[in-house]
Amino acid sequence: MSNANVTKPVFLAEDTIAQPELYELCDWMLAGNRLTKGEQTLAFEEEFRDWMGSKHAIFTNSGSSSNLLMIFALKEAGLLRNNKAIAAAVSWVTTVSPLMQFGFDISLCDCDTTNLGLDLNHLEHLCKTEQPSVLILVHVLGHANHMAEIQEICDRYGVLVLEDSCEALGSTSGGKKLGSHGIAGSFSFYYGHHISTIEGGMVVTDDDDLNQIMLSLRSHGWSRDLSEERRIEMTRNHDVDAFRNLYTFYYPGFNLRSTDLQAFIGRSQLKKLDGIVEVRERNFGLYKGSLPDFYAQSGPTETLSSFAYGTFVENRLEVFNHLKEEQIECRPLICGNIGRHPFWTRKNGTCDLPNADKVHDFGIYLPNHNNLSPTDITRVANAFNSVARPHNTA
Ligand SMILES: Cc1ncc(COP(=O)(O)O)c(C=O)c1O
Repeated sequence: MSNANVTKPVFLAEDTIAQPELYELCDWMLAGNRLTKGEQTLAFEEEFRDWMGSKHAIFTNSGSSSNLLMIFALKEAGLLRNNKAIAAAVSWVTTVSPLMQFGFDISLCDCDTTNLGLDLNHLEHLCKTEQPSVLILVHVLGHANHMAEIQEICDRYGVLVLEDSCEALGSTSGGKKLGSHGIAGSFSFYYGHHISTIEGGMVVTDDDDLNQIMLSLRSHGWSRDLSEERRIEMTRNHDVDAFRNLYTFYYPGFNLRSTDLQAFIGRSQLKKLDGIVEVRERNFGLYKGSLPDFYAQSGPTETLSSFAYGTFVENRLEVFNHLKEEQIECRPLICGNIGRHPFWTRKNGTCDLPNADKVHDFGIYLPNHNNLSPTDITRVANAFNSVARPHNTA
């Protein structure tokens, strides 16, 4: 191993926006184009929708906003028969917090230790006992949930499925991209995600009505972004004349828009996405081969657009300190059991779930991104193997 290699820091994430993209962006901005949401946003949404194989895509200012938007849109569409929801315990704060903000009664579902997605038995139990109307799951670190089985359970109990796919852009299962299985799916384009628009997110859906409602909710609840047909219908139904048209609000909306500047970046990022997915999948395979004593997720994922390499160790702090000395970053496995975080426990008390608790107490994740070479992965794996003691998840 060369000295240069030993001292090269390995970060959890690196920028995916390259210099030539920034020059292109500057030229475009200086040409006097409109920077707020406009043509670039429409083009990015169309290209993203096609890349996903979805009918509609809505560009937002973050993955968190995307979750908020799709959850509230279900309510406004009248698709929820009650205010009860199930959310994945191994998730992110803003997977769950919009449900809290909208006053849902939330049950957290434990994870399956093989893929870190939902535990099917616990899901079925919660559907049976709580009779919720919506589920939001997370494809943790790019690994697919058992979507066919989940959909079957949810259909049986009349539960709508939302996919928080913020860590899974490009992963597939059952021949379809993750995020396109449920009624709607969300993505994040924050720094460190598969592609970046600096801040940004997307919602995809095949549901025409939900799409129209989300377009309105994203922008104050007005009708400007809706289809012509829908706009005419709304003005007619509410007796709105041409003078008041642009300033009439049909839904209690938000402002969750991004800008055309960010859509411009998103369009160039999208061109690189297939290559990024390939590198991330290769890196996951290299980690798996180099860490034979450590748990690796498996399951129904076909293409694995790996977000990071998650595993379980007995001595996390020791590993963290050793890797830090070696200039290698690592971190908790997303954030463990979300039911053990102060924002949740303050309101609901501690939510103990055996598998999510293992993730909370023993989970760790190692860097995976587009700029990591096989040599970098070997360096991380060697440093990790030299101190880490595997935790048995059984
Ligand atoms: C599963 C999951 N959901 C939502 C988010 C939030 O995305 P954003 O940072 O774009 O708001 C993240 C962020 O990393 C995430 O991992």
